[in-house]
Amino acid sequence: MDNRPIGVFDSGIGGLTVLQEIMEQLPGEDVVYFGDTARIPYGTRSRETVIKYSFQCIRFLLSKDIKAIVIACNTASAMALEEARKVFEVPILGVIDPGANAAVSSTKNNKIGVIGTTGTINSEAYQKKIRGAHPLLEVIGISCPLFVPIVEEGWEDTDVAFITAEKYLSELKEHTIDTLVLGCTHYPILRYTVGKVMGDGVKLINPAYETAKCTKKLLKEEEILSEKVDGAKYEFYVSDDPEKFRRIGGNILRKEITTIQKVNIELL
Ligand code: DGL
Repeated sequence: MDNRPIGVFDSGIGGLTVLQEIMEQLPGEDVVYFGDTARIPYGTRSRETVIKYSFQCIRFLLSKDIKAIVIACNTASAMALEEARKVFEVPILGVIDPGANAAVSSTKNNKIGVIGTTGTINSEAYQKKIRGAHPLLEVIGISCPLFVPIVEEGWEDTDVAFITAEKYLSELKEHTIDTLVLGCTHYPILRYTVGKVMGDGVKLINPAYETAKCTKKLLKEEEILSEKVDGAKYEFYVSDDPEKFRRIGGNILRKEITTIQKVNIELL
């Protein structure tokens, strides 16, 4: 038993899709969430920079006496998870392995698509993990950089989102994939639009949901689950304007964000 909070971080608000799943699947776990809103996007940055930023986020969360860390950001998981595990002793979980494993279990025709930021797709983190599970698996990765601003504008169910999705996803349709990983924090919010474009024959994998499942498993294995069964507390920290995070984040969580503070992440 360990009643200390879990630390969750992302480049901004997108990681709230992961937090939402943790809230649902682990209602007794307190969480400290950090959104690096001053330095978003991570998806267009170099590996070196994403590692540096991720380490600063981890150091901040460690200062809050957390018992485990969930890297909610796909780009940071793809680029910094391995390095972070070498440096920090706390259990750290990313979103790539849970999403990739779920895709491998789901496919029937061995053709899997992955969509994500340019950084995540170019890192090949999902592709390597999936191909590593079975050499016969075909993986097609496509970066969809416009999806993040579309979601942050609240346009996920509009014609703009649909037309953009049709353009990005046409290549995946040609490959007749039967499974598609929504490999970016924001993309689960676009799932209805992506589902409409891809059709019923394509199963959408939500790494946020899978990561919460794996977090529960990890806490059990490490015997660090909280004693509480519900009534968890949530603290939020950001590196830029808390008001914007409160407004957009509240819409994603469908819950008012009350405790939120700005921190100077550059100093860590
Ligand atoms: N959170 C990022 C991810 O999941 C998307 C936004 C960004 O580029 O920082 O990859």
